[in-house]
Amino acid sequence: MSEKPWNGRFAEKTDRIVESFTASIAFDRRLYLYDIEGSIAHCRMLAKQSIITEDDASQIIAGLGRVARDIEHGNFELDASLEDIHMNIENRLTAEVGKVAQKLHTARSRNDQVALDIRMYLRDEVANILSRLTALRQSLVALAKRHIDVIMPGYTHLQRAQPVLFSHHLMAYYEMFTRDRARFKEVLKRINVMPLGSAALAGTTYPIDMAYTAKLLGFPEISSNSLDAVSARDFIMEFLAAASICMVHMSRLSEELILWSSAEFGFVEIPDAFATGSSIMPQKKNPDVAELVRGRAGRVFGNLMAVLTMMKGLPLSYNRDMQEDKEPLFDTVDTLKRCLEVYEKLIPRLKVNRVAMEKAASMGFLNATDMADYLVTKGMAFRDAHRCVGEVVRYAMDQNKELHELSLSDLKKFSRAFGEDIFEILTLQQMVNRRVSGGGTAKENVVKAMNKAQEALKLEVAENESDQKKKKTPR
Ligand code: ARG
Repeated sequence: MSEKPWNGRFAEKTDRIVESFTASIAFDRRLYLYDIEGSIAHCRMLAKQSIITEDDASQIIAGLGRVARDIEHGNFELDASLEDIHMNIENRLTAEVGKVAQKLHTARSRNDQVALDIRMYLRDEVANILSRLTALRQSLVALAKRHIDVIMPGYTHLQRAQPVLFSHHLMAYYEMFTRDRARFKEVLKRINVMPLGSAALAGTTYPIDMAYTAKLLGFPEISSNSLDAVSARDFIMEFLAAASICMVHMSRLSEELILWSSAEFGFVEIPDAFATGSSIMPQKKNPDVAELVRGRAGRVFGNLMAVLTMMKGLPLSYNRDMQEDKEPLFDTVDTLKRCLEVYEKLIPRLKVNRVAMEKAASMGFLNATDMADYLVTKGMAFRDAHRCVGEVVRYAMDQNKELHELSLSDLKKFSRAFGEDIFEILTLQQMVNRRVSGGGTAKENVVKAMNKAQEALKLEVAENESDQKKKKTPR
């Protein structure tokens, strides 16, 4: 058991059960690189301000470098009796460089240190997520481009409604994930604030230079209120909320893939490499990947609820409850990244069953609105046209026919306005391509949307690459 840094005031040793109960090292070890980088910057700042000597600083910095290597190579047994990653590193630094290590914690506290570490960790992970959102959207646009002429039934209430291009449907998800990316970029602004120097809660008496620390660590801004700096976790809540919304989108996509790959729909086939079988039913091929993405949305929402609830009653400033922010945060980061990655790989490999989609789009009176709109062009009011076509639909159902299978003389019984030109209007291609209103499903619109998306994605790729260069961890 290691000596506690606070044992000057304590007459008794910490109970073992308390040690294991309070320890966070099992999970906050993932912050080690950020902790060390933050300490190096802090140390440089202390030396620049003559709070410690240059000589002390170089010894500490060299020691921190060795500690980082040891952790990386697994030559460093992390000790639960030292509670967390911050104290483990400080302890190891003392073993490396001796007494001078004890000067590192001048003008800071673990409260501002942990706030700094999470912010550094999270901005790197947001950069990863931004790249993955670009990649996923590239997959969607590529699939949409390959199938630009495929028409499927569009749905409301899960009832066939009007035909749309399959590409239009895919591009709807492109839009959702584009907004998700914008949301993460927005959160990034609030993550990217440097709190170190706020110390325990009130700031410090040493003549520190927070702007310098911020510059060394690449933060565009420093915190403005020390109490807020050590106790704010809204940047985490915001991230978890953005992640939850993104998981809603992925879960809806999952639901559609699950439906579409069923025998009842048969619109797509999930590639064998992305499906699983049954241990008892030899014929089965299950969409487990999509089901698990849908299922994991639940835990991501749960993580958001956990942090909101943990924070809501806390008085200022730091409270130990806040250590509970990490596991939900890490779990959401891991879950979201894996879901994005698996869909980025799966989507380009979807097999699209054009015949099944177009057959479904041709049955069930999906051209009824177009027939009503036709009557409006011949001078009828829309409500009258709606009623008239409703009667035509009922008649066609009795005859066991679709609207386009009725004869002109049949149609004329319902309205004299019908002419030979109605039949062209009722074809799938016309129904799709005449919908040229803003964001409508007409091919010319969808082609434009896909081209615009590809241009935007190209710029994003360049942007992501420069963000990736700034970070410490792999994508
Ligand atoms: N492990 C702690 C956390 O994650 C670090 C800060 C501890 N501060 C303290 N005063 N006990 O929140």
